[in-house]
Amino acid sequence: MAETSLMDRLVSLAKRRGFVFQSSEIYGGVGSVWDYGPLGVELKKNLKERWWRSMVHDRDDIEGLDAAILMHPRVWEASGHVSGFTDPLVDCKTCKNRFRSDDERIKGIPGQPDAQCPICGNKGTLTEPRMFNLMFKTYMGPVEDAASVVYLRPETAQGIYVNYLNVMQAARQKIPFGIAQIGKAFRNEITPGNFTFRTREFEQMEMQFFVKPGEDDRWFEEWREIRMNWHKDLGLTGAKLRFHRHAGEELAHYAKDAYDIEYEFPFGWQEFEGIHNRTDFDLTRHQECSNKKLVYVDSVNNERFVPYIVETSLGADRLALAVMVDAYREEQVSGDKRVVMAFNPAVAPVKVGVFPLVKKDGMPEFARQVYDGLRKRYPSFYDESGAIGRRYRRQDEIGTPFGITVDGQTLEDQTVTVRDRDTLAQDRVAADQLQRYLFERLGG
Ligand code: GAP
Repeated sequence: MAETSLMDRLVSLAKRRGFVFQSSEIYGGVGSVWDYGPLGVELKKNLKERWWRSMVHDRDDIEGLDAAILMHPRVWEASGHVSGFTDPLVDCKTCKNRFRSDDERIKGIPGQPDAQCPICGNKGTLTEPRMFNLMFKTYMGPVEDAASVVYLRPETAQGIYVNYLNVMQAARQKIPFGIAQIGKAFRNEITPGNFTFRTREFEQMEMQFFVKPGEDDRWFEEWREIRMNWHKDLGLTGAKLRFHRHAGEELAHYAKDAYDIEYEFPFGWQEFEGIHNRTDFDLTRHQECSNKKLVYVDSVNNERFVPYIVETSLGADRLALAVMVDAYREEQVSGDKRVVMAFNPAVAPVKVGVFPLVKKDGMPEFARQVYDGLRKRYPSFYDESGAIGRRYRRQDEIGTPFGITVDGQTLEDQTVTVRDRDTLAQDRVAADQLQRYLFERLGG
């Protein structure tokens, strides 16, 4: 399978089956913004819940938070985003297109007479690079002046930093402890693309772990390992996962050390989670700019310090894309092609398909009863239209792990067949044992 076409086929499946739609499609779409359809929203929700459970519920040293997207504009001055969150851009004076100055399609040095615009082909029309801030700006209140500028947050992290003492005191935590948050972030990316990989509106799942200075390197290593194992446990192919350590010039302005967790997408190895040792950079800056003490006081030995922060920052959309790419298979089954999304059942959007073999002899009624019994516990889908093989294929294509069929024998002995999406093996199970059968394989 050619890798480029794999991406095309995945995008087409995502749209056709309701995972992802282009935003505002009837108006021609809006650049690099996507909407999640009925199945996509379930998949993403399952991934977010899995992350939340592992961070907040399974541990007693991490608390949750849901901070607002809009924050005081000085937050972004303190964090360095107003001055430093920029990309160097060049404009073509003729066709008015805008590019990153390191865009590999540009021939020559931007600003020089021989540099050629990659879109209109003219020479000498590209400006010198200028810095362009990636934050979306808007105005708070009725007056659109400089004093009312606010930004859509470019990372969720800052909402955690400015609340760290509130959370610590309210939840009676002591260092080391963490705060986790899932929420939208916005960046006016210049070269977005690759479907949902780089978008202008996206969701982050970030956890900031507050530690004593000097213990940061140890915690950094610990979190690196925990996060890589989380992805393996989710079922992402191990050979398609790797770390990439940031070399000096790659490090963000706040980081002392940083690793990306990369996945091998069809368009190459790309970051989908970042683990950063942010030191005391952010809290020290907020302390300076707000004039509020953000010092931790250790009540045991009366030590005082500004905590160091180890951050794990995972993109929910990039994770969902990696999970979809990883799950996508095309297989030959008895001379027939089938497309299967081999999702980990725990995150599959629909867990069970229920089918009457034929639309007569009381089979639909029995199947409906089975469906009604299961759907309250597991997202289920009832389908009685078309040949049974086609109905199985429709569920394979959206990654439904189990297909339950009510057939002639059901009416005699109240058993049904349960088909496994991956092995295609069929078990015969008493209808009143289905809950237990599924619980053993899917959990609660
Ligand atoms: N708080 C640290 C931070 O924001 P980052 O490496 O800039 O670090 C972290 O972003 C993660 O957020 C990335 O690994 C990626 O998964 C996601 N992300 C960042 N920019 C994105 C974009 N334009 N579209 C989709 N996801 C993005």
